[in-house]
Amino acid sequence: MTMRIAVAVSGRGSNLEALLRTLGPGAPARVVLVLSNRPDAGALARAAEHGVPATVLADAGDPGEWLEWLERHRVDLVVLAGYLKLVPAAVVAKYRDRIVNIHPALLPAFGGPGMYGRRVHQAVLASGAPESGATVHLVDEHYDRGAVLAQARVPVLPGDTPEGLAARVLAAEHRLLPAVVLAAAAAGRPVPLPQPVESHP
Ligand code: GRF
Repeated sequence: MTMRIAVAVSGRGSNLEALLRTLGPGAPARVVLVLSNRPDAGALARAAEHGVPATVLADAGDPGEWLEWLERHRVDLVVLAGYLKLVPAAVVAKYRDRIVNIHPALLPAFGGPGMYGRRVHQAVLASGAPESGATVHLVDEHYDRGAVLAQARVPVLPGDTPEGLAARVLAAEHRLLPAVVLAAAAAGRPVPLPQPVESHP
């Protein structure tokens, strides 16, 4: 049975694009819905190009609105791909262990409230860490705190800028997230990836 996926977005949507490209005809999972909290999210155009229904949430903090969309499209798994707000607690409770998020650093470090976008990479560089990467984790009621399912590591290089590091991490994200979704489709629920997905610059 095909796993039905909703992808929640706030911005550009390159991770959505990576999923849409991986989950073509015949794939065990399919993106059936895109939810955005922002009407100007570039991800909405990507959904339209792929003929995937997309909607802008009138109130992203309203669990009733979320649940109505997820139930209407019979969603099995929710993927947060650059979604910057907290998912309402009632939605997390109803879809417990069926919501995953991708974060552009190696959690548990460099996560939590306010740690998104450029700030994450700035913090990694400021820390002197020799590597960074991407993390996919289960979503609970807190930012970036649920169980880690998979990570992909990339090196921090001498002279790295936040933008350069972000681009290297993003390339790793585009491999990691589809891999986690395919594993979830095979298992019927999100599962830890058996092998680390390594990435090279
Ligand atoms: C990614 O770096 C993701 O890890 C973070 O936000 C960014 C979204 O990029 N949560 P995109 O919208 O998928 O291009």
